[in-house]
Amino acid sequence: MAKKFKRHTITSALPYANGPIHIGHLAGVYIPADIYVRYLRSKGEDVVWVCGSDEHGVAIELKARKEQKTPQQVVDFYHNQIKESFAEFGISFDIYHRTSSELHHKTASDFFKQMEVEGKFRIETSEQFYDEKERQFLADRYIKGTCPVCGFQEAYGDQCENCGSTLSPVELKNPKSMLSGEAPIMKKTQHWYLPLDEYEAWLKDWLLEGHKEWKPNVYGQCKSWIDNGLKPRPMTRDLNWGIPVSVEGGEGKVLYVWFDAPIGYISATKQWAIDNGKRWEDYWKADDTRLLHFIGKDNIVFHCIVFPAILKAEGSYILPDNVPANEFLNLEGSKISTSRNWAVWLHEYLEDFPGKQDILRYTLTANAPETKDNDFTWKDFQIKNNSELVAIFGNFVNRAVVLTHKYFEGKVPERGELQPSDNEVIKSVKVTPQRIANSLDQFKFRDALFRLMELARTGNKYLADTEPWKLIKEDRGRVGTILNIAIQISANLSVLCEPFLPFTAEKLTSILAIKKSTWDKAGSVDLIASDHQLNKTVLLFEKMEDKEVAAQVNKLLKTKKMNEQEGRLSDLPAMKEEILFNDFTKMDLRVGEIKTAEKLEKSDKLLKFSVDIGLETRTILSGVAKHFTPQAMIGKKVIVVANLAPRRIMGVESQGMLLFAENRDGKLIAVSTDDDAQNGASIN
Ligand code: MF3
Ligand code: ZN
Repeated sequence: MAKKFKRHTITSALPYANGPIHIGHLAGVYIPADIYVRYLRSKGEDVVWVCGSDEHGVAIELKARKEQKTPQQVVDFYHNQIKESFAEFGISFDIYHRTSSELHHKTASDFFKQMEVEGKFRIETSEQFYDEKERQFLADRYIKGTCPVCGFQEAYGDQCENCGSTLSPVELKNPKSMLSGEAPIMKKTQHWYLPLDEYEAWLKDWLLEGHKEWKPNVYGQCKSWIDNGLKPRPMTRDLNWGIPVSVEGGEGKVLYVWFDAPIGYISATKQWAIDNGKRWEDYWKADDTRLLHFIGKDNIVFHCIVFPAILKAEGSYILPDNVPANEFLNLEGSKISTSRNWAVWLHEYLEDFPGKQDILRYTLTANAPETKDNDFTWKDFQIKNNSELVAIFGNFVNRAVVLTHKYFEGKVPERGELQPSDNEVIKSVKVTPQRIANSLDQFKFRDALFRLMELARTGNKYLADTEPWKLIKEDRGRVGTILNIAIQISANLSVLCEPFLPFTAEKLTSILAIKKSTWDKAGSVDLIASDHQLNKTVLLFEKMEDKEVAAQVNKLLKTKKMNEQEGRLSDLPAMKEEILFNDFTKMDLRVGEIKTAEKLEKSDKLLKFSVDIGLETRTILSGVAKHFTPQAMIGKKVIVVANLAPRRIMGVESQGMLLFAENRDGKLIAVSTDDDAQNGASIN
């Protein structure tokens, strides 16, 4: 943070109130924001953290239609459910507002009118799909047809869920209205456009020049949008559900959800200010306020380009100082999907693991998709719980407190003369708060958590090395010193773990019988006075049994089966991270021909091939023995990654890799070419 800020306005993406919250939402947006805000509060900073339900937009209308309810009924239900889930996981918003509120409608509407009066929009007429039977213009999501890229027949007007292509509805083959099922016609309509092209130069300066410190994934995405040229975007829509466009000519139209929702941050702050006797303008219009948006990667363009341009157009607001967006979390190797029910829903998690919010918070932070997409697996969840939370953090605190009870009736003993090992541990205690803070200040939450665990690890090792249980007979004074230090470390942990593990922090302060302390107090071994009476210990974490996680895995397997039976999109692995053209051209792919093939002795998986790649013949090992007999492979044309660094496997050097794909039954098929491609031909 170069500039010194006096206060912080933190926002996190307003979730659509059309479905429950899952672990992907938590990991990407709400847990990092919660950690950050709790940290700021612990430092005594002036901070407001706002969020709320995003209750407009087509997705909500669609859901209402499907469930034969009104949109208001849908958002009422999910708003309450989402709000409750967040509260149960300790997500500590200062306010959880909603965009269907009167205050928000007025705020967004006034904002739009003001911009309209000042001529900040361009009004343009265009042709849009119209459903004659339903007498309604069709949002992109209301049109289905055949994807021009992959041929999938159920592609939406804005996106194909099969191949992921971004589409425009006019590109669909055979478009159908989802309302009536009829083919739509084209009809003229007028909209208010935000002329983003006019903000290009400003965005280059403010963002590309001025915010090079933003996370590479965020900065890179913004740069590519801006470099590709920005086009005017309509800020109004022909829909029924939303905030009416209350200027001349706006009848029957509503504000575009991506215009209204970010203004929801402002109206939430207004409501919070009213409730708490504050001035909302201080948090949105003062230059010494730091505005931060926590979001997922699908929201980057709206928060880094569109909303700042809107704020800039209005003119009296501050702009985001940073937008620490995360990538996506996958679940057991597949993309989280609401429609395929491939998710861990928060309300279901709590039914199965009551009181165990912190384990999930811990796992999701340790695996946060900070720089790339990441994967949640139940196995990893179990390992993180058993070998980190239980074996390190919980074990350390438990030992410290139990031994203090056993030898000193639960009264914190005095520290006597210090030995080098004590001093070393005390030094770790001293540097830990700043180490964690440094990571948090850079939005490196995994790192920060790791630093926290390092302190617990240090404490655990300290007890294991000094073995007070062996010393007690001969040197009670020495044991007192050791346990005093161990209890001081525990007190430090209670302060430092609070942003990450708030439920654990509370338990820990109650075991130690201390008041909740602040960040600046941590780093010292004088948090608790000698003779202070501790409470009886309770276990902070419990071992997770195999059968508990097996039950979760089975639940997912059932979902998978059901999806297959219903013929939904098959469960393909999630899309990998985007690469640049340059990354692709680094690969030397060539046509090869298998000359010999044999089983590798001592291995039931590996086949050893010699492959003619034109220039030379390579020895290549592949783990495909279960799928092919060696004979069946001889003479086959294959694709070879020719410039892969050689690897030694079971004593044989493998000089490249062959490409295979899976069929529906999980059997491998060699990726091949027509016979007349010549050996060594390169693929590009
Ligand atoms: N509802 C949007 C989503 O879930 C996020 C809205 S963020 C806001 O993707 F800025 F518009 F509020
Ligand atoms: Zn497609």
